[in-house]
Amino acid sequence: MFDPDRVTFFDTTLRDGEQAAGVNLNAVEKLQIAKQLAALKIDVIESGFPASSPGDFECVQTIAREVQGVTVCGLARTKEADVRSAGEALKSAERSRIHVFIATSPIHMTHKLKMTPDQVLEEARTSVALAGTLADEVEFSAEDASRSDLDFLIRIFKEAAAAGAAILNIPDTVGYAVPEQFARFVKNIIDGVAAPQGVIYSVHAHNDLGLAVANSLAAVRAGVRQVEGTINGMGERGGNAAIEEVVMALKTRADIYGLTTGLETTRLYPVSRLVSRLSGVVVPPNKAVVGANAFAHEAGIHQHGVLAHRATYEIMKAEDVGSVPAVMVLGKHSGRHAFRDRLETLGYQLDNEQLSKAFDIFKRLCDEKKDVTDGDIEAIISDQVLAVTPEHRYELRDYAVGVGAGLSTATVVIYRNDTELRDAGTGNGPIDAAYNAIKRAMNFYPLLENFSIRATSPRSDALGETIVELRYGQVTAQGRGAATDVVKASIQAYINAVNRLYTQAAARAIKIDDPPEANRC
Ligand code: KIV
Ligand code: ZN
Repeated sequence: MFDPDRVTFFDTTLRDGEQAAGVNLNAVEKLQIAKQLAALKIDVIESGFPASSPGDFECVQTIAREVQGVTVCGLARTKEADVRSAGEALKSAERSRIHVFIATSPIHMTHKLKMTPDQVLEEARTSVALAGTLADEVEFSAEDASRSDLDFLIRIFKEAAAAGAAILNIPDTVGYAVPEQFARFVKNIIDGVAAPQGVIYSVHAHNDLGLAVANSLAAVRAGVRQVEGTINGMGERGGNAAIEEVVMALKTRADIYGLTTGLETTRLYPVSRLVSRLSGVVVPPNKAVVGANAFAHEAGIHQHGVLAHRATYEIMKAEDVGSVPAVMVLGKHSGRHAFRDRLETLGYQLDNEQLSKAFDIFKRLCDEKKDVTDGDIEAIISDQVLAVTPEHRYELRDYAVGVGAGLSTATVVIYRNDTELRDAGTGNGPIDAAYNAIKRAMNFYPLLENFSIRATSPRSDALGETIVELRYGQVTAQGRGAATDVVKASIQAYINAVNRLYTQAAARAIKIDDPPEANRC
């Protein structure tokens, strides 16, 4: 039932967010994020673009089947095959939505679509009508709306609503809008379309000018009741509107907006950490709402004020967004139950098989270090349980390094299915040497595009966590590894990235030939 005082949230972390450079999430990771979005009580999860690849189709299908209590959505162009593919992928969703889009700005219609406005109108009408036969509800988006002609937008939204679209979405695709102008624009659309009661207007803002959240809030003031965005604002270029910021602005300034949301805001911090960890996109410490310093008071005068009365310098409570410092450190006496409880607090919902694997790794880690911190646990789960691809090809069995002043050497033993691959390499340090050894052993030479190492806690016994991004032709993949030994973590990350490269290539029907020489790129 439509409630005019409630703002609903449409999360597109798994679709638009995943388009961010260097991000590729596997099906297991996407399902984990979707479960956490459901725990956040998000209204709609856009889980992918089914027609874009077999891998995306499968992810949408899995989330539709396994995530309850939320509407699951799939994106489609106005092409019949796209709409049918979305309908098929969403079949088992508790509640399904097909999100049909077509560009409406002169520049997009002329140069990208090469279609006349009348052709665009016709495609919108027929695809929305078809989508209505395949899902519980249809959302229609006029891509690049903020640079489209107002009268044309009003016409196309009227047609879409008449064809059965229950949600009319106004994207600021290139982040061009500014708040005052955007609010007027949105209001003119709403007044001009005058859609029947129950039709919801929506906004989808990109952040190229850093205004995505401000534009979303301005659109809410102008009458939209669905906000689209991503966790941590993740997305291509400057990203999308950050959901955690929009919801906390609505909540904290209820005096201005006077609107409610259904979100369980105490789940914001766990889901933010999860997305950051699985995507490898680091949240800046000063990021509003979920940054590590969002509730830290450094200046003496502020600390004094907060101690006297929290509200002197705090407009929100850390507890309200679930950002509470870890109170528990696990160790070798911790049982499976405590381990699972801690995982749930951190935002992970593992099945029994994943939990057993994680618990075994945790117990082995307890032999290496006394206290296991939240950061260590997150690293174990994301790097050694969720990041593993189902098609797992290569696996590290053993390694040895020798470190010299200017030259290091490494030997690695890797298994590819049942075949042992063993080789040695040299380099200017142990990691460089190990990577050269791995490439020789696999006879596979992808390009290393990014490499980083960080500690999971500010202690000398922390795990070292490595993130590696590899490219092979058009395909890129990120891998992670965590271990008390940074060389081992780096080797794991590299092998994990290679495995994901194969998975990515398969999902996009790109063939990576098995060794030999042809793999040099
Ligand atoms: O930015 C955009 O216009 C989109 C559409 C598909 C809604 O992501
Ligand atoms: Zn977008």
